[in-house]
Amino acid sequence: MHLGEHGMVTVVETGQYTHIGVSPISGALGAEISGVDLSQTVDDATLGEIRRALLDHCVIFFRGQTLTPDRHKDFSRRFGTLNVHPFVGHVAGHPEIIPIVKEKDEKVNFGGGWHTDMSFLAEPPLGSVLYALETPAYGGDTLFASQYLAYDLLSPGMKQMLGGLTAIHTAGMQYGVESEASKNNAKRKSMETKATEEAETTVEHPVVRTHPETGRKALYVNEAFTLKFKGMSKRESRPLLQFLFEHATQDAFTCRFRWETGSLAFWDNRCTQHYALNDYHGQRREMHRVTVDGDRPF
Ligand code: SIN
Repeated sequence: MHLGEHGMVTVVETGQYTHIGVSPISGALGAEISGVDLSQTVDDATLGEIRRALLDHCVIFFRGQTLTPDRHKDFSRRFGTLNVHPFVGHVAGHPEIIPIVKEKDEKVNFGGGWHTDMSFLAEPPLGSVLYALETPAYGGDTLFASQYLAYDLLSPGMKQMLGGLTAIHTAGMQYGVESEASKNNAKRKSMETKATEEAETTVEHPVVRTHPETGRKALYVNEAFTLKFKGMSKRESRPLLQFLFEHATQDAFTCRFRWETGSLAFWDNRCTQHYALNDYHGQRREMHRVTVDGDRPF
C-alpha cells in the first residue's frame, strides 16, 4: 500500500495544551498524555483538554495509573453513560466492565482482528477505556487505525460512490450460534461469551459517517461486524468491502501501543479501528474495558 497519489498523512492539532502533556506516537493518530493522575477526580479544565486530545489524536494513552474498578468507571462516565455488553460477561459486581483476559495456556484472544467496537448497535459506542492490570513481558500490543485518513485518502470518485451507500452490521459473525468465531470464543475459558440468535439482528449505518464533534468524515465499515451493503447481496458486496477493509487498515493509517501494567488507552470508536495482537503465547494478559455509549451515526 502507498499514499503517494492521494497525498500525505498529517496529524490535526487544534491548539496548545496547558494542563496536560500531549506527545503524538505516530504520524497517523495516537498520543501519550502526561501529567494526569486518573485515580483522583480530574478537574474540568484538565478534562476539557483530555477530551480535546482525544478528538485531535483519535486515541490517547496514559501510563503508570492505579485504578480501582470504581475509579475506572467514574473517569469513563465523565464522557457519557456506560455500556453493558450484551454478549460478553463482566467483572463481578461491575456490569459495565469487561475483563479481557488471555491465560498462559490459551490460544484465542479477544479483539484479535481489525474492528470498530460494537457497530452492530443502533447507537454504537463513543469510545472505550482499556486499563492494563497484567501485561506480558513482550507482545500483546494493540494497533489502531485512523478512519479519517482511510476516508481522506480515497479518490474523489470512490468518496462520491461511498457517500451514497449504507451498510448492514450484525453481531452474528462474532456471537451467532453457528459462527466460526463463536466456536473459538467457546475455547476461551477465561472469558464468558454468549452465542445467541439475538446476535443475528441487523442494523444500518452510513458507510461514511460524520463525526458528531469534529465534523470530519470517517470510513465506517469493519470486517468483524459489517455484513454487506444495503440493497446488495453478500456476494455482490464482498469485493468492495474487502477492498475497504484492507484500505482502512494499511500501515500508514496506524499506530501501535506497547502496554505496561497501569497503562490506559482511550479510543474514539467513531473514527478508529483497533486490533489486539496475539503474539505472547505462554504469558498472561489481563485488561479491564469500560465502553462509553455513543449516538446514531449520520
Ligand atoms: C478490544 O478489542 O477491545 C481489546 C483490545 C486489547 O485487548 O488490546
